[in-house]
Amino acid sequence: MRDDRPIGIFDSGIGGLTVANAILQRLPKERIIYFGDTAHLPYGDKSAKAIRHYADGITNFLLSHDCKAIVIACNSATSAAYAHLLRRYGDRLPILNVIDPIVEEVSARPDLHTIGVIGTKATIRAGMFPRKFRQARPDLTVRSQATPLLAPMIEEGFFNNKISRAVLDSYLSKPLFKGIQGLIMACTHYPLIRPDIEALYAGKNVELFDTPGVVARAVARSLEQHGLLRPRRSALPHAFYVSDFTDSFERTTRIFWGEKVHLEEVQLWE
Ligand code: DGL
Repeated sequence: MRDDRPIGIFDSGIGGLTVANAILQRLPKERIIYFGDTAHLPYGDKSAKAIRHYADGITNFLLSHDCKAIVIACNSATSAAYAHLLRRYGDRLPILNVIDPIVEEVSARPDLHTIGVIGTKATIRAGMFPRKFRQARPDLTVRSQATPLLAPMIEEGFFNNKISRAVLDSYLSKPLFKGIQGLIMACTHYPLIRPDIEALYAGKNVELFDTPGVVARAVARSLEQHGLLRPRRSALPHAFYVSDFTDSFERTTRIFWGEKVHLEEVQLWE
């Protein structure tokens, strides 16, 4: 079976475009409908209850666009709402997230014994990483640290420079992270600061794990398993929606997508 319907991808804002981009690199025939909940961002500072409410509205919007699968391209939304969305919609379509594929990848590495995780407050507070690792790799020590300054810093264009390195240094040089062999960069925005982190860890043998490539592979596998891959490239363009439009959001898409993306505003919570 093959399927022409689009893949629905959502995030708190536009950072999830890093994940969407990787999915399309891997599956160039697919068409995506992207939703960035810019009216409610940042999810990193919201309660799990609020995020679940937003995620419900967005999922219904993506279902109304006949999406064949949903990718939660946001670590904070995955942490707060994945189990809920799976329970509520999981019998209708595959729902994928950005945490399980990374946990699987790291768990399959018996040489790793101590790893660090960085992400928003919502991601770290929810504790989904340590919980999943306890099941998959009970011998692995997981050290988590919220790094709330990083996402806004990146959105403002501060990466690969002295300021981003100083902020990262103050987070990563904490004693908690001493001796880690790997670091999970559990946020949509962090691929942009990978070079900064590599520079800080130069010569220290800390392996970096970021989301987009690993998640794209998991999405490809899931669509294949469910017989949902698209047979030929779509004539229709991708669609990018936000819950609150500003020029600044549209300009910032360039950082995460490589070129400017046209965003269309839709009101889901009037
Ligand atoms: N997309 C969010 C994440 O991956 C980061 C931005 C936010 O806090 O909304 O956790």
